[in-house]
Amino acid sequence: MTETRAIALPTYRVSVGAGIMNRIGEIVNEAAPAYRYAVITDANVGPHYARQVATALGANRTSVFTIAAGEVQKTRDTWSRLTDELLVSGFARDSTIIALGGGVVGDLGGFVAATFMRGIPYVQVPTSLLAMIDASIGGKTGVDTPTGKNLVGAFHQPAAVIADTAVLATLSLEHLRAGFAEAIKHGVIADASYLRNVEFLAADLDRLDIASDAFLDVVARSIEIKADVVRRDEREGGIRKILNFGHTIGHAVELCSRYTLLHGDAVAIGMVYEAQLAERIGVAEHGTAERVREVVRVAGLPEARPSSIGLDETLRATHGDKKARAGRAEYALPRRIGEMSAERGWSVPVDDNEVRAVLA
Ligand SMILES: NC(=O)c1ccc[n+]([C@@H]2O[C@H](COP(=O)([O-])OP(=O)(O)OC[C@H]3O[C@@H](n4cnc5c(N)ncnc54)[C@H](O)[C@@H]3O)[C@@H](O)[C@H]2O)c1
Ligand SMILES: [Zn+2]
Repeated sequence: MTETRAIALPTYRVSVGAGIMNRIGEIVNEAAPAYRYAVITDANVGPHYARQVATALGANRTSVFTIAAGEVQKTRDTWSRLTDELLVSGFARDSTIIALGGGVVGDLGGFVAATFMRGIPYVQVPTSLLAMIDASIGGKTGVDTPTGKNLVGAFHQPAAVIADTAVLATLSLEHLRAGFAEAIKHGVIADASYLRNVEFLAADLDRLDIASDAFLDVVARSIEIKADVVRRDEREGGIRKILNFGHTIGHAVELCSRYTLLHGDAVAIGMVYEAQLAERIGVAEHGTAERVREVVRVAGLPEARPSSIGLDETLRATHGDKKARAGRAEYALPRRIGEMSAERGWSVPVDDNEVRAVLA
């Protein structure tokens, strides 16, 4: 095992490093010891890693619950099925859930943990890049509804996060690329020099060495940026809103695509439009939007919504978003690369006509 790093949040720690999953027994035992462990995973991830995790936690006290993969599974239906399976299998308050998978498993497994018997501990073991640097940190859990993404959920902080970069060896290139979208977001909202490092690695993704120090640095810095924000505002009363950059339009196009667009791809599209919006309404310095577009392009991420998704439909979907208030959707916008606009508590309602203009 190479170097491992730890990033501390108020009530838990994120451990990052190649091969760190080998320490899951020890970490869980310290952070969330339980009589029984329920590993929630999906059909792509389970076959690779569930057995290793169950063995480390003790096969006799661990059960594995596997869902089908994909965003379309992040529903109340899957939540209720998992909850029932836990109950039927005799799980009780003396249990810990291990969410082993990408952001879908993390959000869903976390929501099961938040609600099961009014809340039991859970540990995030993110296996996609996106989940490692973003979804597994901060305690937002939940599911999608037909109206929009993440509309039913709860804040429930994990007891620990174990991010083993070695498992990215089995992640597809398209999902690796999608994960880079959130790393780009972290650069834009907080750190221009970090954005250059991300861009450098993203330029040659098919030859990315996940065992390199440069990659571990990028993963760890992204986690730090996210952790710094959620530490200051756990429940999104203020500054945490900056993490929504790219997500008002991003969630809208993701929904309009009926989840055929990956979350990260949708966020890349959303960042390009929202950076343009920020310049258009005079929030961002000139050149900000072009820089966002450039990095998105270098990473091979999409820059615009597919032609199959109409303008009106997209605009309408921005109103279904939680961030929408009184007919105008809310946007977290950059002032320049590395700094978000703090005006009006970190997010501003924007008139539909302005949004329409950048979507056109
Ligand atoms: N809670 C939060 O704060 C937060 C933040 C960002 C994103 N999210 C949510 O995260 C979700 C997106 O996460 P995602 O991109 O990880 O999607 P995902 O969970 O669907 O994972 C992507 C795909 O990769 C597969 N996979 C994951 N790890 C693998 C591995 N190591 N080897 C082989 N296959 C692997 C999965 O089975 C899936 O098919 C969205 O629902 C989004 O809303 C939540
Ligand atoms: Zn996101």
